[in-house]
Amino acid sequence: MSKQFDVIVIGGGPGGYIAAIRAAQLGKNVACVDEWKNATGGPAPGGTCTNVGCIPSKALLQSSEHFEQASHHFADHGITVKGLSMDAGKMVARKDAVVKQNNDGILYLFKKNKVSFFHGRASFVKAVDGGYEIKVAGAAEETLVGQQIIVATGSNARALPGAAFDETMVLSNEGALALTAVPKKMGLIGSGVIGLEMGSVWRRLGSEVTILEGLPDFLGAVDQQIAKEAQKAFVKQGLKIELGVKVGDIKVSKKGVSVAWTNAKGEAQTLDVDKLIVSIGRVPNTIGLNAEAVGLKLDERGAIVVDADCKTNLPGVWAVGDVVRGPMLAHKAEEEGVAVAERIAGQHGHVNFNTIPWVIYTSPEIAWVGRTEQQLKSDGVAYKAGTFPFLANGRARALGDTTGMVKMLADATTDEILGVHIVGPMASELIAECVLAMEFRASSEDIARVCHAHPSLSESTKEAALAVDKRTLNF
Ligand code: NAI
Repeated sequence: MSKQFDVIVIGGGPGGYIAAIRAAQLGKNVACVDEWKNATGGPAPGGTCTNVGCIPSKALLQSSEHFEQASHHFADHGITVKGLSMDAGKMVARKDAVVKQNNDGILYLFKKNKVSFFHGRASFVKAVDGGYEIKVAGAAEETLVGQQIIVATGSNARALPGAAFDETMVLSNEGALALTAVPKKMGLIGSGVIGLEMGSVWRRLGSEVTILEGLPDFLGAVDQQIAKEAQKAFVKQGLKIELGVKVGDIKVSKKGVSVAWTNAKGEAQTLDVDKLIVSIGRVPNTIGLNAEAVGLKLDERGAIVVDADCKTNLPGVWAVGDVVRGPMLAHKAEEEGVAVAERIAGQHGHVNFNTIPWVIYTSPEIAWVGRTEQQLKSDGVAYKAGTFPFLANGRARALGDTTGMVKMLADATTDEILGVHIVGPMASELIAECVLAMEFRASSEDIARVCHAHPSLSESTKEAALAVDKRTLNF
């Protein structure tokens, strides 16, 4: 006998589990199917974000930052540490405990919201009267029927041809988060978000880290003034970043990995490392979904084709998150999941793609929302720019972290904020105010007129807004 649901969500990552909860809140009878297993084979909902992405990487970034502070910066505060050491195994065990808390939290939320959870792999069987039959292959095989299906199956790391992930020597994000000893030499291919975050973790713990990036510009999609400032800081910390490289043959042995590469001048080079992380982007995951059985349309990249409302080519089938177009970000997936659940319930769910923030959790952090200066130039938009350095912010000086700046871009005529770009301490938190401002279509003058607590890093956002009108008070 099949079990009947109003909505079946396939995938329990941030897109899927949030969609399931929202649909249940709106009175739907909801199932969520997720196959991720923890170390003992039990369910580990939360997807890449919770298990091998956002959450564990932030746990390791925090641990390694504490070590970096104790190693290099406590002395400035008059604190002497003797016999400092790092137990990478314990650090990783703590990270695993943080992940488990999040897995359990999601299972609790399912119970609280009366979402039926199934642990196993879901695949389409066929279209049936009033919906779709879904098979769940897990410890217990189940047949479910859902009137509406939301596919939220996420993405997988993209491998470099000729260097398949073995997660021992050639690592994706999964292996990079599970190392229990600090490699002496670490190589990374791709200086994107994962490359910089993972490179930072292992450098802080003592690895000699080299990042090989194919593009000639560092963080090409980031506002270039901000990217340059970040690059300076990373190089000063000891990250070696090679731009405009061509990666050639990769040889893997038990001892290490040897990467042949050509530098920007066309000179042949070799990089010998103990571990290699390949972080060159991710590909949509539809493995095992049996999309063909129902004629669900994929594009040439393997992403599920959706319209602006996340509707697929099939009636009653929706898709959200990394498996569809757009940035592969947990919070974008969540927004889509909520909007789809609301549309299913007859409401008018909405996602504003222009105000999705980005954060890179390095030190200094990098965060932005809206358009960059280079985008405004190429779009032919007349704009005004205001910047304010953390060097002139009292709280940043007291913290002992004055790297970076806030940069605000506003329309030259209307003063509407078009983008805010931050490199510096707590950029990940500071950006929220700017997202809110842009969501309300605020002008730079609006932020400049708002009272910001003193002393706080957020005063730099206010000062950047004042700088748009060339009237900073503290610089
Ligand atoms: P990415 O797209 O951020 O960066 C990939 C980099 O690799 C690019 O700079 C690209 O030019 C370079 N590249 C591609 N092919 C190359 C080649 N053959 N040789 C040398 N360089 C090459 O992808 P990444 O870092 O793998 O992250 C994957 C996804 O995960 C991203 O969409 C990202 O948004 C998401 N993510 C988000 C985080 C956050 O929000 N803080 C943290 C980690 C990942």
